[in-house]
This record gives sequence, structure tokens and C-alpha cells, in this order.
Amino acid sequence: MTDIPTTEKTFVLLKPDAVRRGISGEILERFEKRGLKIIAMKMVTVGKDQASKHYKEHKKKPFFDEIVGFITSGPIVAIVVEGKNSITAVRKIVGSTNPEQALPGTIRGDFAHTLAHGGKNLIHASANKEDAEIEIDLWFDIAEINTYSRNDEGDVL
Ligand code: PPS
Repeated sequence: MTDIPTTEKTFVLLKPDAVRRGISGEILERFEKRGLKIIAMKMVTVGKDQASKHYKEHKKKPFFDEIVGFITSGPIVAIVVEGKNSITAVRKIVGSTNPEQALPGTIRGDFAHTLAHGGKNLIHASANKEDAEIEIDLWFDIAEINTYSRNDEGDVL
């Protein structure tokens, strides 16, 4: 018997390379067309404090300063995506962390090239439920999270 998928919220961040290249809309479209629901979204430019909190679990990694420097280098788009098994679904749509390993058809596989020039892999997506809750809480106030039904909700969400 197939498990009934649960509705989850996950956090997605379009990094400065996505915004600067003008492909934010095209990336969003991939989630929306898949049937996932955007329930919160804002464009922000953040400082090192917020960026360091976001990447705190990577503090000891050699590229910590680089990833903090990158997401503070320009506007980013913070998003909450809702849908059945959305955490896994979004990570699959995004593709492997290193664009060189990302499959064609994924966001990174189609639009990104390499991590070698400052971590430009376009997008961050929460790795698991615990991270999703922490990251949504870090980036959004409760009042910024919306509730609505999509017209196709009964079919695909
Ligand atoms: S993941 O997706 O968290 O499981 O990936 P991880 O390998 O742990 O990487 C954590 C974040 O660091 C970014 N990253 C890098 N940036 C620059 N250079 C190198 N070599 C590099 N390796 C990993 C990676 O994109 C993750 O950030 P997000 O924002 O989640 O993409």
C-alpha cells in the first residue's frame, strides 16, 4: 500500500545569482507548475548576522565565509512552499548541491554550472523537516505566512 503523503512547509531561498540573472520567475514557475503552493515570499537584502544564522550548521566548513559573503552580496528572494512531501519534492526539483553533478531537468542542472566561483548554485532548499521549521522561523514572521487554496488543490497538492 502506498503511504499517504503529508502536507509540509519548506523554505526556499533564491540566491543573488538567480535574482541578478533575472530567472527568479522561471525558477518559481517550476514549483508552481509542479503543483506546489507558494504561501510566503519576499525580496530582501540581508546582513552577515542573518546570513550566519541561516548557515550556522556550516560554521566550521572552509567555505562558510564564502557562502555568507555570497548571500549578503545582493537581494535574495525568501519563499515558503507548501505541498505534499514538499521538502523532498523541492529538493528533487532543485537538484544536487554541486551544479556539476545536478541532472538536466533540475533547476541547478539547467541553469547553474559550478560551485567553483563563489558558491553560485542559484538556490537553497531546506534539507529536512527540522531545518525547514528553523529556517521558516528565521526568515518569516507568522503573519507573513498565508493560507489559501489553489484551484487545482484537490488534484495535485
Ligand atoms: S547541503 O545542501 O546543505 O546538504 O549541502 P552541503 O554540501 O552541506 O553545503 C552546505 C551549503 O554550502 C554550499 N556549498 C558550497 N559553497 C561554496 N563552495 C563549496 N565548495 C561549497 N560546498 C557546499 C552549499 O550550496 C550549501 O548551501 P545551500 O544554500 O544550501 O545551497
